[in-house]
Amino acid sequence: MELLGTSAELLGAAGYEPIETPVFEDTELFARGVGETTDIVEKEMFTFEDLGGRSVTLRPEATAAVCRAYVEHGMHKLPQPVKLWSSGPFFRYEAPQAGRFRQFAQIDAEALGSDDPSLDAEMILLLAELLERAGARDVRLRISSLGTAATRRDYSQELGAYLRDHEGELSETVTARIDRNPLRAFDSDHPGTRRVMERAPRLLERLAPEDAEHLDAVRHMLDDAGQEHELDAGLVRGLDYYTRTVFEFTSDALGAQSGLGGGGRYDALVEQLGGPPTPAVGWAAGVERILLASDADVPERRPAAFVAVPKAEGARRAFGVARELRAAGLATQMEQAGRSVKGQLRHADRLGACVVVIVGEDELEVKDMRSGEQRPAADVAEVVRLASEASRATGGPAP
Ligand code: HAM
Repeated sequence: MELLGTSAELLGAAGYEPIETPVFEDTELFARGVGETTDIVEKEMFTFEDLGGRSVTLRPEATAAVCRAYVEHGMHKLPQPVKLWSSGPFFRYEAPQAGRFRQFAQIDAEALGSDDPSLDAEMILLLAELLERAGARDVRLRISSLGTAATRRDYSQELGAYLRDHEGELSETVTARIDRNPLRAFDSDHPGTRRVMERAPRLLERLAPEDAEHLDAVRHMLDDAGQEHELDAGLVRGLDYYTRTVFEFTSDALGAQSGLGGGGRYDALVEQLGGPPTPAVGWAAGVERILLASDADVPERRPAAFVAVPKAEGARRAFGVARELRAAGLATQMEQAGRSVKGQLRHADRLGACVVVIVGEDELEVKDMRSGEQRPAADVAEVVRLASEASRATGGPAP
């Protein structure tokens, strides 16, 4: 299973086009996009000054940059929604542990320009399908809604007041964040805080009717698709831009870092970054964690042919033979480490090559590694034919 190839196929079929954004951007973009009070912006960014004195940051996530590109390239003039996907390295200054790295890879999908609940459901189902095809084990999906920015603001005040009333029972970190980001208290592992949060007012119960309907519509479509999910009122996510739907896929096969991927709506972000009002939804999945949670084998790459070079002077001719074998579509390797002939045959055997092509000064020979039979070949065309036959017979790499 090749995760990137699968993503390209799955997302391409649903109308998502590839996009590539730079590995670093103006620090300002992430500060404004991801949110000043998030852990990411407060303490996890690799930020430095370039030679021109500008503050730049290695990207900790993809969404802010995709919105920047949408605005900068006038994508709001295209037919909406604009569906994009990307993959690549991301950087967060976190304490490394199993499943948590300072450089990691994400597959990211974003759909901008529509608030249709079918887009939320489509996104969630695409990620579910990707995880399924990747063979991720024990996957669970949680979903919630954060309402509009206004609902969230009112609710933050209500929750802040509730937390102030219970200040003595909370962890120091949560107390320090009451005014700036009280919702993060739902993520705390601190036992006292957890007890307080069990009785805390719920944002889900404060949703405006149209936001509650939006969430219901998304959930009905998930139900229709047979996608199991759990409504989790405590799901808040670590980035500030979310509105309405939020979701997260976890794997019980992983330890503490169990998040395989997650995302949600960010209906205000494009406007906040200087574009027109543009509702949008997206997700990102962690490549390393998906691989950790799946038992997919690394695909075997056996060469069909190994080109042996008995004498160093024959290297140029051997190189030409290897080129022709590859041009004929056969996976081919050649001797490039100055081994003895015996060593070359042993190496070819270890690689699992179907045939070894021995390139002498004037003659060509093909050794079938399964039968051990060695036959002369009149020319390179015959070498290609013999190698193809042997490769097919062993079910080896397809020509
Ligand atoms: P996120 O939840 O911060 O969301 O990251 C998505 C996924 O990236 C996580 O579920 C996890 O698998 C992986 N990940 C995050 N940090 C690390 C790390 N330090 N080491 C290994 N894997 C990691 C976002 O990034 C949002 N931009 C998702 C999104 C897109 N929302 C809307 N559109």
